[in-house]
Amino acid sequence: MRLHVVDHPLVAHKLTTLRDQRTDSATFRRLADELVTLLAYEATRDVRTEQVDIQTPVARTTGVKLSHPRPLVVPILRAGLGMLDGMVRLLPTAEVGFLGMIRNEETLEASTYATRMPEDLSGRQVYVLDPMLATGGTLVAAIKELIRRGADDVTAVVLLAAPEGVAVMERDLAGTPVTVVTASVDERLDGNGYIVPGLGDAGDRMYGSA
Ligand code: URA
Repeated sequence: MRLHVVDHPLVAHKLTTLRDQRTDSATFRRLADELVTLLAYEATRDVRTEQVDIQTPVARTTGVKLSHPRPLVVPILRAGLGMLDGMVRLLPTAEVGFLGMIRNEETLEASTYATRMPEDLSGRQVYVLDPMLATGGTLVAAIKELIRRGADDVTAVVLLAAPEGVAVMERDLAGTPVTVVTASVDERLDGNGYIVPGLGDAGDRMYGSA
């Protein structure tokens, strides 16, 4: 597994405002959207392209376009949905699938309650969206499902990661073609599975509910 922490002043600035408990839901959603687009720029650095010949008004030249099969973007419901627009802004031709996963707050185990994506992902590049890489349970389960369906290149875009979650992913996804792109690896997880200092419950902050 590859880990890429995006080091950029605009990323740090937006992340600081997201962390601030005084930031309201509308501002949180807008900043999360902008932050995802900045992370998406790095996350798509290896998106597959093919060569094309075109005619400019001046001359013939060779360029590139995104190759087929199209990349698949998979937000993990609920909070990953708040990252979808920011991602497809850079990848408007991507196909979108959905994975509904919930974490049991006592056992911290992840279980799947909804799946909507192609059964066969052979040869597909997949971008999976989940704001918080905390224990790693949700992302590991999601990525194993994507790889079971044949995905051969998976990039997880997360706003924040905990070192414990990164370690779990490195252990459970060893030898798989997985990259994690994040704005920060924070200090640790607390006893309730929250990232410290983190930003609280990403879904609640986005949607203003518990
Ligand atoms: N999920 C969240 O929304 N926040 C955390 O800190 C950890 C998991």
